[in-house]
Amino acid sequence: MKIAFVGKGGSGKTTLSSLFIRHLAAAGAPVVAIDADINQHLGAALGLDEAESAALPALGEHLPLIKDHLRGSNPRIASAETMIKTTPPGEGSRLLRVRGDNPVYDACARPVELDGGSVRLMVTGPFTDADLGVACYHSKTGAVELCLNHLVDGRDEYVVVDMTAGSDSFASGMFTRFDLTFLVAEPTRKGVSVYRQYKEYARDFGVALKVVGNKVQGPDDLDYLREQAGDDLLTTVGHSDWVRAMEKGRPPRFGLLEDANRDALRALHTAVDATHELRDWERYTHQMVHFHLKNARSWGNERTGADLAAQVDPGFVLGEGIAAPA
Ligand SMILES: Nc1ncnc2c1ncn2[C@@H]1O[C@H](COP(=O)(O)OP(=O)(O)OP(=O)(O)O)[C@@H](O)[C@H]1O
Ligand SMILES: [Mg+2]
Repeated sequence: MKIAFVGKGGSGKTTLSSLFIRHLAAAGAPVVAIDADINQHLGAALGLDEAESAALPALGEHLPLIKDHLRGSNPRIASAETMIKTTPPGEGSRLLRVRGDNPVYDACARPVELDGGSVRLMVTGPFTDADLGVACYHSKTGAVELCLNHLVDGRDEYVVVDMTAGSDSFASGMFTRFDLTFLVAEPTRKGVSVYRQYKEYARDFGVALKVVGNKVQGPDDLDYLREQAGDDLLTTVGHSDWVRAMEKGRPPRFGLLEDANRDALRALHTAVDATHELRDWERYTHQMVHFHLKNARSWGNERTGADLAAQVDPGFVLGEGIAAPA
């Protein structure tokens, strides 16, 4: 199951992503955690110290390896150079699974030990001085999109993505890659306006969106979110002393998280699992092709000097039943 946390800057995307990841790990579920924000904070929120966070390999720096692995023997993709962030898989492509090893995980994922189990963490990579003023930003976050488009995840397997604050994900197809998107909103006008904007984009693509209120302090906050988000409001999280202690570098056992906040995480888990039966791999594949053709026309063809529409394998549908290539 693929899950994104989005919302206004500072709303609590990273905090709630990390709590949900801890919750899933404690439940014994296999988890791939992805920090898709160029301001990397997910590692720290999962308890890594500064040196450990800094040592995480960046997806953005392993693009040639990722592309070469994923294209496999797909005859429609002549070289890694012509593979862009939206290039869809086809016959011969290699797919990623949540469990098991592969060269992409070997190069780019690191295990993080949490109460109850270990998760895999992958990070986009920080913004370096060399990136300023050039288009690398998009190629960096593009690595995540490429991986998601080649990933086949089953029930009870989870990919949790901490997304960037801005609306960059709309330019590509990134925002359509999830079974469920959690919009983290503080009970403020700004928090809610990001929700409205996201919902508008999401509507046209059938993106499943739920609002998770954060830093909710009392009945007035709750009423406000209910009034603004209606049925889209799934649950709320209050101020957490557990989170505060963690941020002081004194992480308590996860079992000591406040009951109300644990209930909120359970609600998230239940909502995610309920989307499994709604999955439509044909639509999922169709959407990645749609965004690929759009990106090909707007910049990809020119950039690569190739007709990238030819990369689309018309008979290919991604799906849980697909056999892993030898
Ligand atoms: N429920 C909470 N209880 C206590 N502190 C919280 C809670 N939610 C968020 N915070 C704190 O608020 C700050 C911002 O949260 P966080 O970094 O998760 O937001 P973000 O949406 O990921 O921000 P950015 O847009 O910068 O990535 C952090 O210091 C975090 O610890
Ligand atoms: Mg963040």
